[in-house]
Amino acid sequence: MTDRDAAASDEPVLDPAAMREHYRAEGFDEHDLAAHPMDQFTRWFEEAARAAADGMIYEPNAMVVSTADAEGRPSSRTVLMKQYDTQGFVFYTNYDSRKAQDLAVNPYVSVLFPWHPIGRQVVVTGTARRTGRDETAAYFRTRPHGSQLGAWASTQSTVIYSRAELDASYAELSARYPEGEQVPVPPHWGGFRIAPQAVEFWQGRQNRLHDRLRYVADPAGTWHVERLSP
Ligand SMILES: Cc1cc2nc3c(=O)[nH]c(=O)nc-3n(C[C@H](O)[C@H](O)[C@H](O)COP(=O)(O)O)c2cc1C
Repeated sequence: MTDRDAAASDEPVLDPAAMREHYRAEGFDEHDLAAHPMDQFTRWFEEAARAAADGMIYEPNAMVVSTADAEGRPSSRTVLMKQYDTQGFVFYTNYDSRKAQDLAVNPYVSVLFPWHPIGRQVVVTGTARRTGRDETAAYFRTRPHGSQLGAWASTQSTVIYSRAELDASYAELSARYPEGEQVPVPPHWGGFRIAPQAVEFWQGRQNRLHDRLRYVADPAGTWHVERLSP
């Protein structure tokens, strides 16, 4: 750290306490909701995608997935949702990564879609399980060639000595599988499907009196909606 960095961190130029947005006036209540949380998610995701087309949101399918290890220590990271349906939300990753190691011992996850520019968030709790190899392979084939090689080149979440090590690994793989050549699906790479147990739709309102409507499934699997205090 330089002297200048040290001075900057002592006297922050930006004051986050003074950052204050006023949220929307219109409400969101029980009558507006679809019967199934994934149908409600579809509505909001489509609106988020429209906001993305207008340049307000970047990557509306980005979601923060939090896992916890065997000792209950949590960690979070952003991933891209690549599919969703009544069964849940799918993302792809390295099966040796920290998140995958957590999920091997503790399948419970929390997921957050942070759609701040439109004053909304969706918060999901549920369990994650691996997608089938056929589903993984079908998705892998749709990825750009470079991303397919990247899945082989990265030993995600491990400590590496240098950037050069990663670039060398990628260069070697590029030589072995030139553009146009089929790249095999890495055995250590695949999807997780997050089956929701509760899904909260949060919409920012004036005076911090936000609307929070949460779907929870009863033991028979029927969804009920409850309103939470903001
Ligand atoms: C916008 C964005 C999208 C990302 N998408 C993915 C993804 O789909 N899959 C993935 O494994 N990592 C993705 N990452 C990287 C992860 O945030 C994370 O660094 C990586 O998965 C390792 O996490 P872990 O060490 O906690 O397992 C993304 C990062 C960002 C910022």
